[in-house]
Amino acid sequence: MEWLAYAEAMEERPPGTVLRVRDVTKSFRRGIRPFRRTTEVLKGASFDVRSGELVGLVGENGSGKSTLLQIIVGLLRRDGGTVERPGRLGYCPQLPMLWDKLTVDEHFALFAHAYGLGLEDRERAVVPLLEDLRFGRYRGYRVEELSGGTRQKLNLALALMHEPDLLLLDEPYAGFDWETYLRFWDIAEQRRDVGMGILIVSHFLAERERLDRVYTLVDGRTVE
Ligand SMILES: Nc1ncnc2c1ncn2[C@@H]1O[C@H](COP(=O)(O)OP(=O)(O)OP(=O)(O)O)[C@@H](O)[C@H]1O
Ligand SMILES: [Mg+2]
Repeated sequence: MEWLAYAEAMEERPPGTVLRVRDVTKSFRRGIRPFRRTTEVLKGASFDVRSGELVGLVGENGSGKSTLLQIIVGLLRRDGGTVERPGRLGYCPQLPMLWDKLTVDEHFALFAHAYGLGLEDRERAVVPLLEDLRFGRYRGYRVEELSGGTRQKLNLALALMHEPDLLLLDEPYAGFDWETYLRFWDIAEQRRDVGMGILIVSHFLAERERLDRVYTLVDGRTVE
C-alpha cells in the first residue's frame, strides 16, 4: 500500500514506550464560594502504551476518559502525577475541532504546515487516507457542508497524516457506518503493525480481540 512506503520513508520509530501515565489526578471546581463544589474525576490513573500496541481505554459516560486524554495532549492541566510521551503525537478529539468555513483540503494544508510536512509528503499521506476512508470526493467541500460521519473521517485523517508515534483516538468511530467502522479497524491494525502505539478510548468496545490490552477507568483509577 502507498502509505506503507510513506511510513517507511519517515524516520525510524524508537522502540519501547510511547506513553507513560503515572498517578494522574484531576478535580474540577464548579460554582462560587460558599457553594463551590469539587468533583474528583481522576484519582490516580496509570498505564503505558508501547510502540506497536493497540490499547483500549473504556469506562462509563462521565468516568473521565476524555479528561485523561486532554491531560495527555496538554489541553488540560493535571493536578498531580506524570505524563511522558516522547515522539510525534496524533490526537483525534471526541468533538472534531474543525473550521466550518475551510474545505477538507484547506484543513490538510493547515495541519501539514503544523506537522512540518511539505507538499509532496502531504499528498503522499493524504491520498491513501482519502481512499481508505472513502471521502476523496469531498476534498473541495467546506466542513459546514459535510455530514457528521465525514467530519469524523477528516478528524481521524488529520490525526494520522503525519504517521505519529502515539495516536490517541477519543470515540473515533461514533459516527461511522458499518463499512467505515470495519475499515477503521483495518487502518488501526495496519498502523499498529508498523510500530505505531495507539490508544482507543470508548464507552463501548466490541472488538476486544483486536486489542493488545484494555484498561477500564473506574472511580478515577485505571484497572487492567
Ligand atoms: N471543563 C470541565 N469543567 C467541569 N467539569 C468537567 C469539565 N470537563 C469534564 N468535566 C466533568 O468531568 C467528568 C468526566 O468527563 P469526561 O468528558 O472526561 O468523561 P468521559 O469518560 O469522556 O465521558 P463520555 O463517555 O460521555 O465521553 C464529568 O463528570 C464531567 O462533567
Ligand atoms: Mg468522552
